[in-house]
Amino acid sequence: MITIKSKSEIELMRKTGEVVALALEKIKESVVPGVTTLELDQIAEEFIRKNGGIPSFKGYKGFQGAIDYPGSICASVNNEVVHGIPGLKVLKDGDIISIDIGVYLNGFHGDAARTFPVGNITENARRLIEVTTTSFFEGIKNALKGKRIVDISLAIQKHVEANGFSVVRDYVGHGIGREMHELPQIPNYAARERGPRLEPGMTLAIEPMVNEGDYQVKLLDNKWTVVTADGSLSAHYENTIAITEEEPIILTKTG
Ligand code: MF3
Ligand code: CO
Repeated sequence: MITIKSKSEIELMRKTGEVVALALEKIKESVVPGVTTLELDQIAEEFIRKNGGIPSFKGYKGFQGAIDYPGSICASVNNEVVHGIPGLKVLKDGDIISIDIGVYLNGFHGDAARTFPVGNITENARRLIEVTTTSFFEGIKNALKGKRIVDISLAIQKHVEANGFSVVRDYVGHGIGREMHELPQIPNYAARERGPRLEPGMTLAIEPMVNEGDYQVKLLDNKWTVVTADGSLSAHYENTIAITEEEPIILTKTG
């Protein structure tokens, strides 16, 4: 079932989303050579709790024998696509790192991700991050009442592929609200199903995951971390948005 949120519920989600966005801004300052992904996790957790929230990901049920998720954030470095578990890995100059944050506050979840450069990165890495970001904005040009999920998906895929990169297929965006993962699923490529029509009050986490090389991925032995099959770099950009009568609202932003 797709849940439709009222205007006042969307206002609550905006407040939750603001904490997500502020947490990402806070982490960005600490993404420097020498920092560990666990230190970034601790900064995020402290910030989220100080603002009255709970990290949505912490303790998230593992499946197929995986442990419950131990981090407050996902910290995915270089060839890691998503669900990098924070730990003793030290960031070095030239890395890229995707930080994904979920916050539960006011009875609702907010979910957003960004990929940050660590020090000086290559031109191709910079372009990968830029194309991933702009693909999200191309996608949400279609986040309009009466259009379908597939219209968002196709716009993302076209932009990514026109720029020579590929879109991950095994992981998708999702509806979000009182639960972190609600229907509908939101692929970042044109899947067989066209998906439901968009209606005001739908709240969606749209999250292109873009690989420098091939779209195929594999799962590490920790049963969480997804990496590119060919070892190429990967970037991630996500916001929680609300469908309205007019333009969509980005909920995971400041101000
Ligand atoms: N933003 C991701 C998602 O929507 C992160 C989930 S991490 C998990 O699935 F630990 F919560 F699963
Ligand atoms: Co998400």
